[in-house]
Amino acid sequence: MSKYELDTATSRAHPTPAPLRRKTIPAIRARKADGTTAEPITMLTAYTARQAQLLDPHVDLLLVGDSLGQVIYGLPSSLPVTLEMMIAHGAAVVRGSWAAAVIVDMPFGTYEQSPAQAFANAARVLKETGAAGVKLEGGAAMAETVAFLGARGIPVMGHVGLTPQAVNQLGGYGARGRDAAEAARIIADARAVAAAGAFAIVVEGVVEPLATAVTEAASCPVIGIGGSARCDGQVLVTEDMLGMFERVPRFVKRYAELGTVVSSAAAHFAEEVRGRRFPTPEQTYQAK
Ligand code: KIV
Repeated sequence: MSKYELDTATSRAHPTPAPLRRKTIPAIRARKADGTTAEPITMLTAYTARQAQLLDPHVDLLLVGDSLGQVIYGLPSSLPVTLEMMIAHGAAVVRGSWAAAVIVDMPFGTYEQSPAQAFANAARVLKETGAAGVKLEGGAAMAETVAFLGARGIPVMGHVGLTPQAVNQLGGYGARGRDAAEAARIIADARAVAAAGAFAIVVEGVVEPLATAVTEAASCPVIGIGGSARCDGQVLVTEDMLGMFERVPRFVKRYAELGTVVSSAAAHFAEEVRGRRFPTPEQTYQAK
């Protein structure tokens, strides 16, 4: 990894990222053997090239999540996110990274209709971004699609539990699997997606014992979003863990308070400009 450097003049990794030098999907899948993962898998969301550059040395997987709808575009949910948006951000993240495997979310309405629809759109994602695989939401109902894509060269990460694209069906973003019947369904979903060949599964918005049970039930790595320390890996939305928003889900640990840093830097800039203290005479001189 240390062979690569950031070229801050061009914002590109140097040398140019080479797909086959990255962590591979089979290597990530193999991290869980005989039901256990010696070293937990790390994944963070990334939506831009510069963000990818900064995160890439530290994580196994970069997820271009459809959460970009809310985080980048200020949309009320991920439902309006389009394939074109995912492709544009996916390509940027691939350009800005060189070691992590990049996974791109399939947005709502681009894969649910049929395995053939999913293949056509997922193939576009891989062709036009250079990503290593796609993620799609859903359990048993999506198993046929997961197998169809896998058999045709497209690695799939599953996503069970709270599936935000189904917010209208679920009635909100509350935790799932609180009653025994739903908990059993979520475990069955994870089993079905793993049996269909998913290389990993995200489990979102479930209580700790259920996240542990899903991890034990699935043959492939299970990546929790705040679920349980016993999951095979963890993912967070990067802006959440960086403290870019005042409110974050309860399970999110804030590793920084960048929202406050950005806001006070902007206030400082505006104050200096209004007071005609910026640019300083020295800076004006240097710029000439
Ligand atoms: O869209 C996203 O960012 C995700 C993560 C929360 C797992 O799916």
